[in-house]
Amino acid sequence: MLRITVNGKLVELDVDPEMPLLYALRENLGLTGTKFGCGVGLCGACTVHLDGEPVRSCATPVSAALGSSVTTIEGLAKGEALHPLQEAWLDNKVPQCGYCQSGQIMSAVALLEENAQPSDEQIEDWMQGNICRCGTYPRIKKAIKQVATSKKG
Ligand code: FES
Ligand code: FES
Repeated sequence: MLRITVNGKLVELDVDPEMPLLYALRENLGLTGTKFGCGVGLCGACTVHLDGEPVRSCATPVSAALGSSVTTIEGLAKGEALHPLQEAWLDNKVPQCGYCQSGQIMSAVALLEENAQPSDEQIEDWMQGNICRCGTYPRIKKAIKQVATSKKG
């Protein structure tokens, strides 16, 4: 039995340790907010946090999460209180089809945790690994800047 912490809860998984973390999250734990896009680490749709760092869960084996803490989109809100970036996503009506958006938000959260005041260029650089087929990039940037600006001072 493999034990990992997901969204603050210790969970046990009876799976092959080499199984992609994405499959364990979606199929064994029912956390379907994290999406399968390319499956080969290229699109960012499957982004979750492993001990606070953004990782591609399609390219991360469950074994890499042993003894670590995984956060998915389902774990971002604190009770009823959405994460400020989730609020900004709503304010700016960011999603179109929505498929890539969990990964976009998880990457954006990691960005602002590392750099609370990113420049436009830093936002573009950081987010370039998260692909959006609907082209919501301008709204993603606006939402990130909204939260970054609100942290000024
Ligand atoms: S599904 Fe993981 S990077 Fe595309
Ligand atoms: S909102 Fe459709 S792929 Fe990004």
